[in-house]
Amino acid sequence: MEFSIKRGSPEKQRGACVVVGVFEPRKLTRGAESIDNIAHKHLSDIIHRGDMEGKSGSTLLLHNVPSTLCERVLLVGLGKEKEFHEKAYCAAIRSAVKALNETGATDGTIFLTENPVKKRGVSWRIRQAAMIAQETVYRFDQFKSTASEGIRPLRKLSFTIERRESLAQAEEALAQGLATAEGVSLARTLGNLPGNVCTPGYLAETAQQMAKEHAMECQVLERADMEALGMQALLSVARGSHIPPKMIVMQYKGMKVGKGSDKATSGKPIVLIGKGITFDSGGISLKPGLEMDEMKFDMCGAASVLGTLKAVARMKLPINLTVIVPTTENMPGGSASKPGDIVTSMSGQTIEILNTDAEGRLILCDAMTYAERFNPETVIDVATLTGACVIALGHVATGLFANDDGLAHKLLQAGDDAQDRAWQMPLWEDYQDLLKSPFADMANIGGRAAGSVSAACFLSRYCKKFAWAHLDIAGTAWKSGADKGATGRPVPLLVHYLLTRSGKLN
Ligand code: BES
Ligand code: MN
Ligand code: ZN
Repeated sequence: MEFSIKRGSPEKQRGACVVVGVFEPRKLTRGAESIDNIAHKHLSDIIHRGDMEGKSGSTLLLHNVPSTLCERVLLVGLGKEKEFHEKAYCAAIRSAVKALNETGATDGTIFLTENPVKKRGVSWRIRQAAMIAQETVYRFDQFKSTASEGIRPLRKLSFTIERRESLAQAEEALAQGLATAEGVSLARTLGNLPGNVCTPGYLAETAQQMAKEHAMECQVLERADMEALGMQALLSVARGSHIPPKMIVMQYKGMKVGKGSDKATSGKPIVLIGKGITFDSGGISLKPGLEMDEMKFDMCGAASVLGTLKAVARMKLPINLTVIVPTTENMPGGSASKPGDIVTSMSGQTIEILNTDAEGRLILCDAMTYAERFNPETVIDVATLTGACVIALGHVATGLFANDDGLAHKLLQAGDDAQDRAWQMPLWEDYQDLLKSPFADMANIGGRAAGSVSAACFLSRYCKKFAWAHLDIAGTAWKSGADKGATGRPVPLLVHYLLTRSGKLN
């Protein structure tokens, strides 16, 4: 789809559809009013007949509105004016794009971006609108023999701004929103692909292709390389599968070390690590059958860091970013790890594997030790790590753990701003005892109580040398039920964080 920023009045627009808002109860916004005035109160009449109350999310499509130059006018309910905050704004954009997409209109001019949103400026409104529009038209139908849509698809969308002075700013916000959306879309597609297609090898190929496109370095460690490095924790997870594990390492260099605008990091890279279990059967500690298909989503952490990198490369942000993806299947098999096995991780710390289903931490810990060689300024890992995190936070917030309060604060703020929120959980020493093992340095599970905290505690033992945060996306990476599918979270949070770090937000 093509996007642009426009200025002008709704009643003077040509084209297939103009989109304006109505507040509840029955109150026209300024944009709607200007159409109403030229159209001899056509909109007022309709509203007073009771066809458009203005409830948040509702829409009404009108054809041939008198004296207008466009083919259609789409009215979008915004809810109560004094409750028109971020959530209502996003809902309105979503319903507008959805309704547009369901009509025969191939282009639309959306005036909703002119409505003030408390605490949020024009850049935020445009960035968010671009992201939501792309998210709304996203489809994953590559495995359907017949395409789902019959109607003409939406090809062009314009968002309007009120003031000429904000044009440059709005254009930049649009580009940022679209880059983020591209990252989200990549993350969703990788997540949605079935486990027999999206294997560790497939992820590695995707990474190599992306590296070529954006002139980045990409290295793929094979099983033999991992053996040489002593990554026995990661390898212990891969042992049950017939397909080989990979460790993908990508380096984006947006600035020269010691120079450049990113004074904060002085050229040291920010490292993102994503859990890439392309299917999690649980291994010998086999999972129950119900909904096991959803464990194809266990590589959504990997997908999200690749998506984030894609967005950063597209915007050419002046930062250095390294992405590490340890990836393998977790399967039962004759050579698979057994409960009670003890392995030595790359760091030298020994682990008693009490449950082979707690595999995410085993692949992440070796990736974290490997990250040390990049002398990172910050390390952030993203993982569908624990069912316990879903019990704690549901499907609303991502679980955030950090050994650095400044970093935690910045990520929470980024999540808030990008409408992709996280909630901080404790990482106190008191919880470390949960991981005691009579035979090894630690066990790989800490029992049912505080399951997401003990998982984070496990990871913290591998992150003593740098500022580190862990995002548990078990509840937010995908949706179950009727609209089953990957969400692309937390790409918006991460991209927003990196935009802030590179001083590119206005
Ligand atoms: N990938 C799962 C976590 C998960 C489960 C995410 C359900 C989303 C929905 C992870 O590898 C896992 O199996 N974790 C175990 C840990 C336990 C054995 C300590 C869990 O959460 O049950
Ligand atoms: Mn598991
Ligand atoms: Zn898992």
